[in-house]
Amino acid sequence: MKTFIESQGHSVTLLPVEEATAATLANHDKVVIGASIRYGKHQKVVIDFIEQNKTQLESKPSAFYTVNLVARKPEKCQPSTNPYILKLLAQLDWKPDLEGVFAGKLNYPKYGFIDRNMIRFIMWMTKGPTDPKTNIEFTDWKRVDQFAQSICDMQ
Ligand SMILES: Cc1cc2nc3c(=O)[nH]c(=O)nc-3n(C[C@H](O)[C@H](O)[C@H](O)COP(=O)(O)O)c2cc1C
Repeated sequence: MKTFIESQGHSVTLLPVEEATAATLANHDKVVIGASIRYGKHQKVVIDFIEQNKTQLESKPSAFYTVNLVARKPEKCQPSTNPYILKLLAQLDWKPDLEGVFAGKLNYPKYGFIDRNMIRFIMWMTKGPTDPKTNIEFTDWKRVDQFAQSICDMQ
């Protein structure tokens, strides 16, 4: 996403949310916040950042995207159909100008024993891959580029 936006002539500061402050927001024209899902939840640090900086976020063009595995299903890959983004934005009472939902990676060999088997169980329940050797990236990078283009276009 960063490379794409830079290729359109914009400059991008990419940083972990832990390092972002109100001053970071003040120094940029637009803000894009992304977070992945671990066991049904977005990282608390992202939620706290949005809550603490809501007024400033609302004062400039903003985008939020979520990455998760539920989004591998076509019927759950839109801002209006992905349960995680719907729940988060309702909970925060925040309406970013752009919302994105992207499917992430399933990489069993990288996970520890407990995570691997918990996720295998979730995948078994939701008819996904359960072979512990599976390493698949479900991300549709064309959709990511389209989202990046919309960020460039956002006023
Ligand atoms: C420990 C763990 C728990 C996860 N729990 C969920 C989940 O509850 N729902 C879901 O859709 N995806 C879940 N995922 C999938 C992640 O959202 C996906 O792998 C994403 O690409 C992770 O990105 P990150 O490594 O940048 O956090 C989980 C992944 C891991 C490693």
